[in-house]
Amino acid sequence: MEFITVNPQAKPAVALVSLNRPKELNALNLQLMSELRDAIQALDANPEVRAIVITGNEKAFAAGADIKQMAGKNTIDMLLADQFATWEAIRRCKKPLIAAVSGFALGGGCELAMTCDMIVASETAQFGQPEIKIGVIPGAGGTQRLTRAIGKAKAMELVLTGRFISAAEADRLGLVTRVVPVELCLSEALSLAAKVAEMSPLAVRLAKEAVNQTYENHLNDGLHFERKNFYMLFASDDQKEGMAAFIEKRKPQFTGR
Ligand code: HXC
Repeated sequence: MEFITVNPQAKPAVALVSLNRPKELNALNLQLMSELRDAIQALDANPEVRAIVITGNEKAFAAGADIKQMAGKNTIDMLLADQFATWEAIRRCKKPLIAAVSGFALGGGCELAMTCDMIVASETAQFGQPEIKIGVIPGAGGTQRLTRAIGKAKAMELVLTGRFISAAEADRLGLVTRVVPVELCLSEALSLAAKVAEMSPLAVRLAKEAVNQTYENHLNDGLHFERKNFYMLFASDDQKEGMAAFIEKRKPQFTGR
């Protein structure tokens, strides 16, 4: 594992997975996501583990999918890379996943946090779906899960403007389970996981399944729709311009083509 570290017993029956690509603010490249999938699948199959915490570092949970890795890709490249297979596998984890979020949780980083079952945020956390600023849209569930979590009016604003929200606002909007001081974030997430880990693992599994069932079928259609639109944008000049502008640290000039 190059980009994550795994501690299968951070507390009794609680595993901790840490994203570890700090120089790039934990940008989620394909290798990191494959490592994360492998780790989650192994922990899901490990009978000693009953709950899993995913965390980043103080500066960033994750600043999104790796823009540098995506910048030159076209629609067919994206389709064939099938990167969402790893996301689907993570989503299928039967054990509770808790995100401990400090710093940036943006784009795919926000989507990864929302793929988890609960989010413990530190006061420094910032959430957002800024893909629109680089000429694309959320692709790993942002348009679907954010809308369900905070409602259309707010989700639409965040997805169309890319505005970041603070932990306090995320708390008010119902995106996160609780907000704690930054130095307590990880321990609070681990304690919450430990509390869940004391319960019957079978009841926990079926409860998670049942809560998710509230929108599961609709979510599948929505994720599929979002993914197609995300792929389609890689046929546009604006995606090339938006991502090139990010890498070159300048303002993009969008033409609508
Ligand atoms: C690749 C990234 C990155 C990213 C940051 N970096 N985010 N590299 N992909 N998503 C890199 C920067 O290029 C820089 O590298 C280093 O990390 C530090 O970032 P800075 O920008 O210098 O830090 P700062 O000024 O503090 O700004 C932090 C930031 C900004 C506001 C988070 O980095 C930013 O806006 N990042 C992009 C956020 C974003 O648009 N995310 C959505 C991506 S698309 P160098 O080499 O210059 O030091 C997406 C689609 C998901 O997520 C759907 C599919 C899964």
